[in-house]
Amino acid sequence: MKEQLQALEKEALQKVEEAISLKELQDVRVAYLGKKGPITEVLRGMGKLSKEERPVIGELANKVRGQIADAIDSKKADIEAEELEKQLAEETIDVTLPGRPVPTGGPHLLTSIVEEIEDLFIGMGFEVREGPEVETDYYNFEALNLPKGHPARDMQDSFYITEDILLRTHTSPVQARTMNMIQGERPVKMICPGKVYRRDTDDATHSHQFTQIEGLYVDKNVRMSDLKGVLDRFAKQMFGEERQIRLRPSFFPFTEPSVEMDISCKMCNGEGCSVCKKTGWIEILGAGLVHARVLEMAGYDPKVYSGFAFGMGPERIAMLKYGVDDIRHFYTNDIRFLKQYHQA
Ligand code: DAH
Repeated sequence: MKEQLQALEKEALQKVEEAISLKELQDVRVAYLGKKGPITEVLRGMGKLSKEERPVIGELANKVRGQIADAIDSKKADIEAEELEKQLAEETIDVTLPGRPVPTGGPHLLTSIVEEIEDLFIGMGFEVREGPEVETDYYNFEALNLPKGHPARDMQDSFYITEDILLRTHTSPVQARTMNMIQGERPVKMICPGKVYRRDTDDATHSHQFTQIEGLYVDKNVRMSDLKGVLDRFAKQMFGEERQIRLRPSFFPFTEPSVEMDISCKMCNGEGCSVCKKTGWIEILGAGLVHARVLEMAGYDPKVYSGFAFGMGPERIAMLKYGVDDIRHFYTNDIRFLKQYHQA
């Protein structure tokens, strides 16, 4: 029995030595030290031994078992250390590799321009308002001194939904809505950016849907010189302090008098070039003093209150500011176009 145990020990230690994975090591443990293993078997047969032999063999069997268990434990620690080494080597991070850029989006050029214009007017005390894109004929036309059948309605080809409801053709209805809401109780100083719709054929300068920013200031003693001052500040801040403005007489049913504002051409500094069509000036927006009828219809007494209004197209502003040659670029969303206007 003694030889048998010694042979088992030798054999088991050999197997432990040969094991190359934790799984193999576990198999050796089960095979030699498990309940059905040969050592347990030996211990079970002890009953047949003589009194003298029993403690000797018992002690030996325990020693053998202890040695196999120790060998397994130490081998286990070796294998685990080896595996950790391997894993660390395989998973090393090379911190010197250049980073992979994560592509990020950014605001659309049109959004940026609208926000820039908003900030500029907020700085002059205007609040920002909104109005519906699906508008009534009343607010889109009538409240702006454009009664049914008025020839100036033809200036804006419209998408009608019913006889009385249409997609707004301009942001001017928000003037009437805002004044109507306040009913002459206090002054109004607001701008309103938003989408507008016209039955136009799309080309480089026309789009059936585009953006406008409306402005309205109604208070006591608002004069043409106030309008001029505000527009001059706007033009200089948007296009550079060297820019000059000029107001030309024009016509809009909702303002009297009406003007169009030009800025001096940046390309030629007023000399005349292809951008300004040799005039030295570029048209930017329409404006005027709010028509007495418009004030009256919205609940403001035109003998007490006066005001100015203006309307501009941010696409046109962006086109001039950044040299964009086709309004459709704002809507076709070619990523190569949009990317040029992102700050990295
Ligand atoms: N609503 C006009 C348009 O769409 C633009 C405009 C002109 C707005 C003069 C105004 C204004 O408020 O005073 O063509």
